[in-house]
Amino acid sequence: MAAHASIKSMALCLVMTMCLVISSVAELQRFDHPANDDGSLSFLVIGDWGRRGTYNQSEVAVQMGRVGEKLNINFVISVGDNFYDNGLTGENDPNFEESFTKVYTAKSLQKQWYSVLGNHDYRGNVKAQLSPVLKQKDSRWLCLRSFVVNAGIVEFFFVDTNPFVDMYFYDPKDHIYDWRGVLPRKKYIANLLRDVDTALSQSTATWKIVVGHHAIRSVGHHGDTKELVEKFLPILQRNNVDLYMNGHDHCLEHISSLSRWTGSKQLYSAI
Ligand SMILES: *[C@@H]1O[C@H](CO)[C@@H](O)[C@H](O)[C@H]1NC(C)=O
Repeated sequence: MAAHASIKSMALCLVMTMCLVISSVAELQRFDHPANDDGSLSFLVIGDWGRRGTYNQSEVAVQMGRVGEKLNINFVISVGDNFYDNGLTGENDPNFEESFTKVYTAKSLQKQWYSVLGNHDYRGNVKAQLSPVLKQKDSRWLCLRSFVVNAGIVEFFFVDTNPFVDMYFYDPKDHIYDWRGVLPRKKYIANLLRDVDTALSQSTATWKIVVGHHAIRSVGHHGDTKELVEKFLPILQRNNVDLYMNGHDHCLEHISSLSRWTGSKQLYSAI
């Protein structure tokens, strides 16, 4: 009996330990980024950019440098599609230097960059783009699938929106997506939604900003991302997220849901 009981409790112990390990692995990685001494924060957001300087990327980079100087930015956010057309081929792909290091050369842009992945990045070697080796090549670079940055007045929730999009799985055309680390998809999405929900609900920041590659709503070329409207938007709404920032549609839009703007917080002055 005693032996039985102890085996049972050992088994229970093991199960609990496994659960603990699994849940701690699934939690979103967190970073702290200090705000300015007066509590303020400023940053630039860019997406859909890595073209080895062409398509006016270099011209935009110069203007970013000027604005970044004027605002004395704390960091830069990239909302994905970091390297066209097909992400990076490996850690040593020269596209990294040609599209990033050698383009964003202005002094004001020599800050931390926080990046998520876009669909074009998934057409290359995703693990290379996430690799710490890139940080050795350019110390500004940080790209992860999903993570949290606590910057005092604002908490940023970076979310990889690519696994949500059905088309990339069921109708990928002639593209090959690198889903290593994302499968099985259903489980991956369920864990991600749970982790984002938990992180948002635990946040005490004045502003909660979510960052992803795909638009939830858009009047642009790709339109709404219905999978995000169905599965992701309710979590953002439930947790009173103030702002969602994305790329993908190559179209400047500012969409507001009026019910969110009845409080005392005002973001319009900041935009
Ligand atoms: C670069 O910008 C100029 C001026 O806005 C525009 O006329 C031109 O089409 C752009 N070039 C590309 C390749 O997008």
